[in-house]
Amino acid sequence: MAHRFRALVAHPQPEALGELAELVGGLGLIVETARSTVEAVNKVQSHPVHVIIAGHVPPTFDGVAFVERSAGLVKEALRILLVSNPNEGVELERPRANGAGMVMRLVARPSERSRLVAMVSEGIKLLHLLEEERELVRNIRAANDRLRLRETLLDVVVKERTKELEESYEKLKQANRQALFGLAEAIEAKDPYTKGHCGRVAAYSLVLAKESGYPESGLETLEFGAFLHDIGKIGVRDSVLLKPAPLDDQEWIHMREHPVKGYEIASKIEMLQPIMPAVRNHHERWDGSGYPDKMRGSRIPLVARIVAIADAYDAMSTDRPYKKSIPIDECERLLRGHAGKMYDPDLIEVFVSKHLGLLFRDEYEGLPYESGYPQAMSSAPTGDR
Ligand SMILES: [Fe+2]
Repeated sequence: MAHRFRALVAHPQPEALGELAELVGGLGLIVETARSTVEAVNKVQSHPVHVIIAGHVPPTFDGVAFVERSAGLVKEALRILLVSNPNEGVELERPRANGAGMVMRLVARPSERSRLVAMVSEGIKLLHLLEEERELVRNIRAANDRLRLRETLLDVVVKERTKELEESYEKLKQANRQALFGLAEAIEAKDPYTKGHCGRVAAYSLVLAKESGYPESGLETLEFGAFLHDIGKIGVRDSVLLKPAPLDDQEWIHMREHPVKGYEIASKIEMLQPIMPAVRNHHERWDGSGYPDKMRGSRIPLVARIVAIADAYDAMSTDRPYKKSIPIDECERLLRGHAGKMYDPDLIEVFVSKHLGLLFRDEYEGLPYESGYPQAMSSAPTGDR
């Protein structure tokens, strides 16, 4: 592809000029010639020139001055200066790494024409390499630009997809909440006398959990667990569940099956798996006398210990068909009396000393716990129902 490059041969003597032009043209270059500095400068300015060969024949033609001047006119070219006497030439600058302003010096003797040809040939190879390098840089830049554009587009797509996923997750969470509340409504439908019990147990449990330093990340699960702790009462016979009087021994046995029944229901529904401890173990007692697993002390899951207190407090402080409500301070006194026996003493201390039941009544009334939660059935009064 040597024809793509142009050469300017400048020399005041016609014979030398013709010989040089023929020599360079034989290498496949397009050749321009000039016999004076003015002509040479004009040609350099009017066409792109890649190879400059100039004779230094003072005073007719100052090749040194022309070659130096050409460096300002053509940044990237192979420059060869032909001098008759090496001592006449000045020390010109050496080739630079980037090829710009590369200048070579050659003693012009007839016997060294082959050296000139070799230099021009090497120069053409170098020009090709520079061209290829430039093309490579262009391609890399274009590829980088495409990559950046792609990254930007990808970023936009990822953000959109993330937003969609977050919205889907929120919708799913809402659907789950509604499904759980629907389940609670099914419980409530069996026993309308204890309207609001599950919602209040959830609220008391949340307050007690927060005041006890319960991990923030677990509060939602705790809330659901508290809300659905009595889900097993779906499986309790109405004659027992709705009996407006104390239960006999057989009825108690049947009633006390509800944590295990609830556990069996929860174990079949994936989204209820995390709340199983609240469902199964909310009737365990601190001293190990509870049911169904007779767990003791801190072996009882924390969520179950919290729900047990909330459940008992609400059962005591509200009217039931088989008993009247107990005043708040009496409820607190009874809870304290059972600390370390039925209930976790540390949790009881938090609940009672901070009057959390009272706080809920005074400040939480009207929040979603009252208005948005479905009302649910009877749970565990101090009589352990
Ligand atoms: Fe219960």
